[in-house]
Amino acid sequence: MNNIYIAFAPLQGYTDAAYRRAHHECVGGVDEYYTPFVRIEKGEVRKKDLRDTDPVVNAGVPTVPQVIAKDADEFAKLCDALQGQGWRRIDLNMGCPFPMQVKAGRGSGLLQHPDRIEEIAREMLRRPEIIFSVKMRLGQESVDEGLTVMPIVNDMPLVHVTLHPRLGKQQYKGVVDMNAFGMFMEGCRHPMVLNGDIIDLLPLTSHISPLKGVMIGRGLLARPWMLSEKEPREVIQQMHDIVYRYAVENLCGDRQILSRLHAFWEYMDIDRKQKKAIMKSTTLPRYREAMAMCLR
Ligand SMILES: Cc1cc2nc3c(=O)[nH]c(=O)nc-3n(C[C@H](O)[C@H](O)[C@H](O)COP(=O)(O)O)c2cc1C
Repeated sequence: MNNIYIAFAPLQGYTDAAYRRAHHECVGGVDEYYTPFVRIEKGEVRKKDLRDTDPVVNAGVPTVPQVIAKDADEFAKLCDALQGQGWRRIDLNMGCPFPMQVKAGRGSGLLQHPDRIEEIAREMLRRPEIIFSVKMRLGQESVDEGLTVMPIVNDMPLVHVTLHPRLGKQQYKGVVDMNAFGMFMEGCRHPMVLNGDIIDLLPLTSHISPLKGVMIGRGLLARPWMLSEKEPREVIQQMHDIVYRYAVENLCGDRQILSRLHAFWEYMDIDRKQKKAIMKSTTLPRYREAMAMCLR
């Protein structure tokens, strides 16, 4: 049970390099931390995203940079940028359900374009030095979409496929479809990683044997201590020190700093009143006061 692969899911706005380092250094138990997706904006690879994948800020943390692309051209540009930074491991996002990305044919929207996925697969084969993986949903509108692209995914050189068994159109609503997950597992020749609504490893025991592992997102944001024996308070305090230092040293002005710090607490499984006081704080002194109350 403890030997399964455990990944920390990418969560845009939450799991930046400082957060990933904080979790790795203060808790551990995670095999790989995925970066929020690196994307193309106005024809260029987004500079802000590349700062988060800078190998210097990720040194010592087992990190997988993730890209989101609508076609092989974008994919190649993103891989070039990451390879230029020295990366030899890249994850492709075929699961993001945000309407802006879906409309542009990225994330789960890409699942509706098997021809483009085929071109991306060819681009992967041109880069044998890279260890690729894919993170996907069942489809955008229907499970058929995911099943249709499965043979193409099977021909990709992948270390594993992470599947979040919901449709893109569901975003985060409804329950994860474990029957559909089983169907994909039968059709997939790569090892599979299960993602979606995991808040505890124990109930998974019955599914675990054929799985390579699990990827956990919001469950770990809520209870970052989940994979350790450590006390929640100790973990929160230690992780907060790292994220706080990063925010104060790298962001400009109280508003930006507070926004980053609020994200640290947003999903955290703590007393509701205390969380409300933290989230409502509009100045750093007020924030520190509310935080001290919480960690008392
Ligand atoms: C705010 C937010 C941001 C996310 N950002 C990304 C992302 O950048 N890349 C990605 O593959 N998935 C992203 N996801 C999806 C998560 O990685 C994960 O698949 C999803 O939350 C389901 O897993 P969970 O129930 O364990 O959180 C995001 C989800 C949320 C809620």
